Amino acid sequence: MNFKTIIEPFRIKSVEPISMSTESERTAFLERAHFNPFLLKSDQVIIDFLTDSGTSAMSSNQWAAMMNGDESYAGARSWERFEKAVHDLTGMPYILPTHQGRAAERILYGHLGGEGKYFISNTHFDTTRANIEYSGASAHDIPVLEARDFSANHPFKGNLDTKQLQHLITELGEKNIAAVILTVTNNSGGGQPVSMQNAKEISAICKKHHILFVLDCCRIAENSYFIHEREKGYHEKSFREIAQEMFSLADACVMSAKKDALVNMGGFLAMRNKELADACTQLLIITEGYTTYGGLSGRDMEAIAVGLVEVFEADYLKYRIRSTTYLGEKILEKGVPIIYPVGGHAVYIDAKGLYPHIPVDQYPGQALVCELYRIGGIRCVEIGSVMFGKYDDHGKLIPAPMELVRLAIPRRVYTQSHIDYVVEVFDEIIRVKKSAKGLKIKQEPKFLRHFTAHFELVK
Ligand code: F0G
Repeated sequence: MNFKTIIEPFRIKSVEPISMSTESERTAFLERAHFNPFLLKSDQVIIDFLTDSGTSAMSSNQWAAMMNGDESYAGARSWERFEKAVHDLTGMPYILPTHQGRAAERILYGHLGGEGKYFISNTHFDTTRANIEYSGASAHDIPVLEARDFSANHPFKGNLDTKQLQHLITELGEKNIAAVILTVTNNSGGGQPVSMQNAKEISAICKKHHILFVLDCCRIAENSYFIHEREKGYHEKSFREIAQEMFSLADACVMSAKKDALVNMGGFLAMRNKELADACTQLLIITEGYTTYGGLSGRDMEAIAVGLVEVFEADYLKYRIRSTTYLGEKILEKGVPIIYPVGGHAVYIDAKGLYPHIPVDQYPGQALVCELYRIGGIRCVEIGSVMFGKYDDHGKLIPAPMELVRLAIPRRVYTQSHIDYVVEVFDEIIRVKKSAKGLKIKQEPKFLRHFTAHFELVK
């Protein structure tokens, strides 16, 4: 018998209480946080969908492995286990441990970048773009056209546009292109997957033009699940084999282990080329730590080594993707506009579509973020003009291309009833949607304003 209910494939051994709150308490908390949920305390939150990064619940096997952490400065056993786990998965010989993804990015893109260099990606994640631009280089996003249509039912909306890649190579000159970065799944593009076919085409183009091909692989297991389900010829392969095939196409990879390695902190950089690895190792030692620990303690490396195996377990991946899809489809049925099909780690809501009465310069995404918190104690993030908006010379807002809100689901943390609660909160969001108010920025920093800006409600 095949039952249709997919259950969490784990039992809960240790629990962390959630502080429950009332709507009137949350209204006061939100005002004190200046209508910016980044400024809330986690104890004021019921369901925390701010990010899936570093928020995973570790397994009993990971906690057990941590007790074996060897904290020797050099040549620790934990390093050997970590190196083997990363090597078995990526097939890459040179591995540099870092404290998180952006540290690996800073090392690799800092070395490859600089004035006059270009990076091309399906979509650069914010820290990726920031590291590239900080080096003086520039970053081009070329997602496929389907990615721009919220409801186009395309199986691989995370793909990079290979025709545009060819054009850009001709236009910019292959020598000026520092790397092509394929982000799997494409976080900033709605957590959408990338097909193996797309990775193969990019790999061939990069080989032909002698351009470095880098995988940003922080959600590679989730991406492999979609390939297994949607791409011809992959249904008989294991999720791990699919990931290994994708790694075999790339010259290097950057991973934030805070996602698909199921840990709270960590990352790595892996490469095939010795010269590149030698240069990056110098930077690793200067900025992170010695080669056999980089930015990690022995126990962190142990937990990552176990997590990189667990994340490919079929029951886990099936449950993981199903619970994200379930949330997306349930709120879509209620009439909430979302990016469809649902991606791997998060549901992305089109806030402009939900709140057409709020103009972009009153930040419809931030309005929804505040409503979700006030009504249901749900914390999430705006990915729109608060995050990416800029001002012209007259101080007028140049809005972001989309006004999205991301509900990112931590791994192995929330149960079906938590998700059902979130779905129910949307009934109220819809019922009162006409009375949702826009926001004005009262105070903001120069960079990355979404983290600390203060807002007030438009009267
Ligand atoms: N690349 C991608 C695709 C990411 O999603 C992230 C982080 C990074 C690189 C940087 O990794 O945080 O370990 O330094 N994404 C988090 C998020 C922050 O909420 O999506 P990091």
